[in-house]
Amino acid sequence: MTGGPDARVALVTGANRGIGYEICRQLAERGLRIVLTARTSAEGREAAGRLARGGRDVRFEQLDVADPASVEALFRRLAEGHLPVDILVNNAGLYTTTPLLSIDEPALLTAVQVNFLGAWRTTRAFVPGMRDRGWGRVVNISTGYAHLASEPPAAGAYGLAKAALNALTRMTAAEAGPRIKVNCMSPGWVATRMGGTGAPTSVAEGANQQRAPGNAEPAGTASPRWARSAALCP
Ligand SMILES: NC(=O)c1ccc[n+]([C@@H]2O[C@H](COP(=O)([O-])OP(=O)(O)OC[C@H]3O[C@@H](n4cnc5c(N)ncnc54)[C@H](OP(=O)(O)O)[C@@H]3O)[C@@H](O)[C@H]2O)c1
Repeated sequence: MTGGPDARVALVTGANRGIGYEICRQLAERGLRIVLTARTSAEGREAAGRLARGGRDVRFEQLDVADPASVEALFRRLAEGHLPVDILVNNAGLYTTTPLLSIDEPALLTAVQVNFLGAWRTTRAFVPGMRDRGWGRVVNISTGYAHLASEPPAAGAYGLAKAALNALTRMTAAEAGPRIKVNCMSPGWVATRMGGTGAPTSVAEGANQQRAPGNAEPAGTASPRWARSAALCP
């Protein structure tokens, strides 16, 4: 189960619980070295400790994706520790459904900070290193609410920010070049704190859409770079 020094390194944001935690678990099971990040140190450390039991290679790093200084500090810590990020999973998310015509500006900005700008910050920080090393994967966790072509626009600032995340996916895929694959995936409606207990998709299925039926369509990025499985990171 251990990653070993030559194993790929995967960094997952918002991974103290929910889909992010499960992505860490599934990738660790595949032998990857995991950097589990969370904005709250106590929760992140506890989650990483739970996964590391049984010999998995999982370490915790504090990261608040809404804070540019936090992203820069993490980048520096990993660079100083000579830990290259090969796979980046932008999972941290915040569900803000207030309609756009009634939401106040601070709430809208918070939704954009977490769901969109956070992913842009980590992508900008870690993709240049991937490019230098000639290999890399980025998976952005999106949602059907961002699929503007087929869904009625819904979910307010959340859908807006995730639509921007889809656009970021396509544009950074083009900028990053052929050796770096940038995808996004929609986990479906998943039984996490965000999805609630009535959600039909388990966390394990949500983290690996290859096993979940009914989620075959991409949510906004009708592109060959679309991936349905964060756990596989093809
Ligand atoms: N569940 C669903 O039905 C569903 C459907 C479509 C898409 N998604 C997407 O899947 C991803 C994971 O969602 P989930 O269902 O696992 O939700 P969740 O259980 O609510 O987990 C969200 C995670 O994001 C973290 N987070 C929030 N703001 C952050 C910040 N500023 N910096 C770092 N981490 C932050 C949370 O940390 P704290 O514990 O500190 O709050 C938590 O770890 C999200 O991107 C979500 O939009 C979920």
